[in-house]
Amino acid sequence: MSNSTAWSLSVLSDTEIMAQSIIFIFGGYETTSSTLAFALYLLDTHPDIQKKLQEEIDVALPNKAPPSYDKVMEMEYLDMVLSETLRLYTISDRLERVCKQDMEMGGVFIPKGSVVMVPIFSLHRDPQYWPEPEEFRPERFSKENKGRINPYVYMPFGYGPRNCIGMRFALMNMKLALTKLQNFSFQPCKETQIPLKLHRKPLLKPEKLIVLKVVPRDVLITGA
Ligand code: HEM
Ligand SMILES: *[C@@H]1O[C@H](CO)[C@@H](O)[C@H](O)[C@H]1NC(C)=O
Repeated sequence: MSNSTAWSLSVLSDTEIMAQSIIFIFGGYETTSSTLAFALYLLDTHPDIQKKLQEEIDVALPNKAPPSYDKVMEMEYLDMVLSETLRLYTISDRLERVCKQDMEMGGVFIPKGSVVMVPIFSLHRDPQYWPEPEEFRPERFSKENKGRINPYVYMPFGYGPRNCIGMRFALMNMKLALTKLQNFSFQPCKETQIPLKLHRKPLLKPEKLIVLKVVPRDVLITGA
């Protein structure tokens, strides 16, 4: 038996189990809640897109039917809205990797042990890849368009064998939360900071809390 096999069979110590659990809680909670807050901010400043998303949800879940896993995962526009939110507001704005051996890349010498940063936030807003990058346009991720996206230019969950282990769970969870737009609409109010100012501490965050007005949709329907 090789050493590496023996290592991979070793069990986790109590400390390792605790460390993994803490990482799951910290890695999963704020990322998900901030992304949702950014998504609601974008929807509230783009009422046409919010309406289109509500129409998709109403068709998939008629008469405010409770969401099921399959229905939520089938909604295409919901996926486009969330993908575009994660492009504009990528919570983890850089990836880091440690270089395992001396190497040269594009004429730059990178010594073993250096930390190499991948600037995802900047890549996600580079006009060379995204026309009018500051604009919120879910259509960039439509079926017809998304095949043209370079996977090394769009990495909200990182890339490769050490990418985000919680990606699928996070996407499902955020989509489920956004289906609540079946009951509520979001609108800006005087406390809403527009345009939003960003802050890094160390994850990407709004400088001020995102304050929005929540309107029950039933009231709008009865009132009409
Ligand atoms: C919107 C939600 C989330 C975003 C944007 C996000 C983003 C990221 C990114 C960019 C990385 C680094 C990947 C790389 O270096 O290639 C990462 C790693 C990680 N994420 Fe997430 N994440 C999210 C939600 C979650 C959730 C819900 C969990 C757990 C339930 C989670 C657990 C982790 C863990 C454990 C790692 C480290 C993986 C490793 O080093 O092998 N994340 N995440
Ligand atoms: C949404 O509306 C439906 C139908 O009026 C109701 O049964 C359900 O409890 C509401 N859900 C929420 C989260 O308010």
